[in-house]
Amino acid sequence: MTASLALLGGTPVRTRPFPSWPIFDETDEARVLAALRSGKWGRLAGDQVAEFERRFAAMHGCAHAVAVVNGTVSLRIALMAAGLQAGDEVIVPTYTFLSTATAVVEANAVPVFVDVDLDTFNIDPAQVEAAITPRTRAIIPVHFAGQPADMEAILAIAARHDLFVLEDAAHAHGAMWRARPCGAIGHVASFSFQSSKNLTSGEGGIITTNDAALAESCRSIHNCGRVPGGIWYEHHVISGNYRLGELQGALLNSQLDRLDAQTATRDANGRYLASRLGALPGLYPQTRPADCTRHSQHLFMARLDAALFGAPRAVVLEALQAEGIPAVGGYGYPLPDQPLFRNKAFGPYLPDRVHLDYTRVSCPNSRLICAEQGLWLDQSMLLGSRADMDDIADAFEKVHAHRDTLAARAAQGR
Ligand SMILES: Cc1ncc(COP(=O)(O)O)c(C=O)c1O
Repeated sequence: MTASLALLGGTPVRTRPFPSWPIFDETDEARVLAALRSGKWGRLAGDQVAEFERRFAAMHGCAHAVAVVNGTVSLRIALMAAGLQAGDEVIVPTYTFLSTATAVVEANAVPVFVDVDLDTFNIDPAQVEAAITPRTRAIIPVHFAGQPADMEAILAIAARHDLFVLEDAAHAHGAMWRARPCGAIGHVASFSFQSSKNLTSGEGGIITTNDAALAESCRSIHNCGRVPGGIWYEHHVISGNYRLGELQGALLNSQLDRLDAQTATRDANGRYLASRLGALPGLYPQTRPADCTRHSQHLFMARLDAALFGAPRAVVLEALQAEGIPAVGGYGYPLPDQPLFRNKAFGPYLPDRVHLDYTRVSCPNSRLICAEQGLWLDQSMLLGSRADMDDIADAFEKVHAHRDTLAARAAQGR
């Protein structure tokens, strides 16, 4: 038997912290200070956001990018630019962050939920096809945890049914599908720069596309409906001020210098960790298809089958945390089970929502992942060394070795 569990007073596998996030140094300070001192703090006055848009677009295989205040608004603007009308249906996964679906409601359209695959945690294309109705206009695949969704199947379905594909790439900065960057696969994509994300300015988001007309429309919507050549107080479409500020643009420019190397580190560490953790009974790291040529590992995600592992998730997480591994269970509910959807608490949106019933959504995989099996490690841990990955794997092995003790503890409700 290995050393005793830290949870029960033994020595933890690890006491050192993992790499902290965000990472910054004097290069970020210099960029932000220069933007500050320029006195040009709004994007229409300065050149930082414009420079960032060009660089981010190029890095993600796109001709156009429009930076906005966050990765929720970017989704809504993309849907509006696609010409969505009130009551149109948009297919979204059940296992994702709130915004993927609320952006649809805020575009006055109807989110239609589809379950995810139990191995990849990405939307299940077979179920997408089954969810299509005459009112379906768009699909929002999420590249969950930074692993590209099955875009071959999704693009084929979209082509058959003339649907718009909006990639929710909030987790997928620098990720690649068949060596093509996420963000350049569907018609349009949305990224987030919120604090936890692999590229961050505290808050922020961006829309990427290769469609010039769509980009023009997004640019107008994010800038109060202005159009090129128009005068200042001339507004052409329903819109608002969703522009990103120059100080954030400056920070993103310096942060972007690190993205490629950081993504390579996360990807390599993710592969290694998956190879070690996947050897444990009942522990299933996210299955990585060959089409995923680069995983951005916003999360390292796995499923823990309590019966096969030998102890339930809650006590396993408790034991891992005591060993110095900050693993968490992730989302507590699939989106349709959130009170917001159960109660259709949509405020003024979707006035004829009476016919919608989100209590009837079938998503057994997402429910299982949320309630019992999901396990997340944060992206910043994946920026560590090989020895750091070994600590994580050693801690899982130690906890597994003590599974009977942990199972008994869980049974006693302690
Ligand atoms: C999958 C997904 N989509 C959209 C968002 C929304 O981004 P933001 O927080 O920048 O609005 C997030 C995260 O925050 C996310 O995880």
